[in-house]
Amino acid sequence: MSSQSMVKSNLSDQETLENKRFVKISEREDRGDIPQSTWLTLTENYHLQTWKGIPMDKSPIEIALYPMLIYELQPKTIIELGADTGGSAVWLADQLKLFDIEGLVYSVDIDLSLLYQKAKAQPKIKFLEGDCNQIDLVLSTTLLSTLPHPWLIIEDAHVNLVGMLDYFHNNGLQNGDYLIIEDTNKALWEAWSDWEDKEFIERMKCKLDLLKNWLMQHQYEYLIDTQYQDLFGYNGSKNWNSMLKRI
Ligand SMILES: C[S@@+](CC[C@H](N)C(=O)[O-])C[C@H]1O[C@@H](n2cnc3c(N)ncnc32)[C@H](O)[C@@H]1O
Repeated sequence: MSSQSMVKSNLSDQETLENKRFVKISEREDRGDIPQSTWLTLTENYHLQTWKGIPMDKSPIEIALYPMLIYELQPKTIIELGADTGGSAVWLADQLKLFDIEGLVYSVDIDLSLLYQKAKAQPKIKFLEGDCNQIDLVLSTTLLSTLPHPWLIIEDAHVNLVGMLDYFHNNGLQNGDYLIIEDTNKALWEAWSDWEDKEFIERMKCKLDLLKNWLMQHQYEYLIDTQYQDLFGYNGSKNWNSMLKRI
């Protein structure tokens, strides 16, 4: 084989790999390689996990994955739904600073009284109080039209998933933007089945189905980025089939 054809064949291998990186929801399974029992171990001490002394609800896997995605994507806007104490917003803003990305974090919560003072003081974060059931009132179409791309949207409020997906799909998501829907891992919620808030657990067990139904209607517009989604085994994350790129 000539050196020229070797280069060509390498290139086509690379292209094939690149094509396989982004896959449609219909090509994915509702399962993960990490055993169910591991999820309790990984998440039962969430309440003790902090970033700069502020509580943060991310599993060690998301703590490894998100910075890689952020570095590659270089998001100018990160929208987080579900701020809680502000720890994750501070962590996301710190990733932007670390990678010299001139971006801002918009973090929404229905109750901003939980925010730590330290989080409020961060210049790269805008906290917005409002109800994700009325997402248009919190992040108006006018505001969204001013936010520079690429966007990274992280849904972690666990309400109005379909309404939220429709809203951002119709009002701003562009090719290249990313969307992460957190806590779609069914094994995680099976592991938490004995928790006292049964209504919440049952609702969370359905989150993947809601996402999947929506994605089936947008098969060619949102693809799963398997480079991150499967880095730690098939769906090796607390987010199953939900690290999505708008194509
Ligand atoms: C799991 S916590 C967010 C955790 C945070 N993103 C982190 O990683 O540390 C979910 C948050 O969603 C908020 N939330 C619940 N219902 C909401 C709603 N209807 N609108 C906006 N936020 C809501 C709760 O107040 C809570 O702070």
